[in-house]
Amino acid sequence: MDYFVIRGGKPLQGRVAISGAKNAALPILAASLLTSETLRVSNVPHLNDVTTMIELLGALGVEAAVDESGVLCISAEHLNSRRAPYELVKTMRASILVMGPLLARFGRAEVSFPGGCAIGSRPVDLHLKGFEAMGAQIDVRDGYIVATTEDGLRGCDFTFETVTVGGTENLLMAAALADGETILRNVAREPEITDLVKFLRSMGAVISGDDSDTLTIQGVSTLHSCQYTVMPDRIEAGTYLVAAAATRGCITVDGADAEHLGLVLDKLREAGVDVQVEGTCIKADMRGKRPRAVNITTAPYPGFPTDMQAQFTALNLFADGVARITETIFENRLIHAQEMSRMGANIAIDGHSVIIQGQEEVRGAPVMASDLRASASLVIAGLAAQGETRVDRIYHIDRGYERIEEKLQSVGADIVRKMR
Ligand code: EPZ
Repeated sequence: MDYFVIRGGKPLQGRVAISGAKNAALPILAASLLTSETLRVSNVPHLNDVTTMIELLGALGVEAAVDESGVLCISAEHLNSRRAPYELVKTMRASILVMGPLLARFGRAEVSFPGGCAIGSRPVDLHLKGFEAMGAQIDVRDGYIVATTEDGLRGCDFTFETVTVGGTENLLMAAALADGETILRNVAREPEITDLVKFLRSMGAVISGDDSDTLTIQGVSTLHSCQYTVMPDRIEAGTYLVAAAATRGCITVDGADAEHLGLVLDKLREAGVDVQVEGTCIKADMRGKRPRAVNITTAPYPGFPTDMQAQFTALNLFADGVARITETIFENRLIHAQEMSRMGANIAIDGHSVIIQGQEEVRGAPVMASDLRASASLVIAGLAAQGETRVDRIYHIDRGYERIEEKLQSVGADIVRKMR
């Protein structure tokens, strides 16, 4: 397994180009199942999770190829299966997103029950409740969820008990081809949901309510081809901005959307970072100063994103003051705290929170990644720490960050990937 060797203590300086958003690209790729016509999708990031989704779609019979201009052309005209196999689903939970489109277009979907993962049990009960409300029959056989509908999905008025990004996306895609009107209430409002809404609309779907907590969909009989460009990755952008702050440097991210990073930029400013926005460029300049401690409580969008929690934990290790960071979305997303303790950080877990007493100096150490954003936080900690940090199991980070060591090297980081 690959690992990173990082020699920290150097302020990062320079510019980083932001890639397409993983969490928008994955549902958009799944939505290709909704039509027999070819779709052309640009700005799809080169990530392991995207490769896994394309493999999964390929197992269903979808054809995908990148043309000479780098556009992903994808066609679900000739499908030969309705079954998402365990071997692929177990590696990526977002595989569940093929269920809605398969059920809506073909009346049948078989998806291996997605297991939990390091950050929590991550059930899909709300996805299934929504499909049942649309008239689907749900059975679980041999570890597979089998969803069927005899006479097609019908529109319904469905309220999510808790806000779920994937649940919102799955039901939104199913409703696009359902018979009649569907109202989805208490939906997730993440920008990636709005990107999916825009993509479906460009395929001919009739949807209103984007950016609100209620989506209304008028089902149509067929959807058609379209060309679409995936939104920039707000979490990748936020990660590099935090890395600038933690190393007391200055990074400008290019091709980002500051509107998607409201609270993240507010928290960086609260930590004493000089944040400037100019079009799609966001500059974070720590001016060589020590950051101030900032408290964080995660919440569904537009609240503070859970996917930026670990990165701000890393920032607080070096900050002036005491910080409390509370995770409210996932039940086990504080694993990185134990790894940071190995670096001599003064960090303690208190229920669903971590309490951090910032220190002027933290020493590098061998640490192990446990999930995607925890990996990023350990890289940030290593970049800001004195001495050498080795980050093991970086296959986690390759799932969600395109060429991260190259992008970091381009802003002065001493980081190399080693093959064991
Ligand atoms: C999406 O995961 C993202 N993944 C996650 O990003 C992100 O952290 C999460 O949304 C929250 O913003 C993708 O978009 C591919 P949820 P998802 O359904 O859809 C509970 C990353 O690092 N829940 O919004 O799986 C669930 O257990 C990843 O890029 C149910 O109880 O998240 C969790 O506690 C990590 N029943 C909460 O809701 C359900 O049926 C939020 O989960 C569904 C969810």
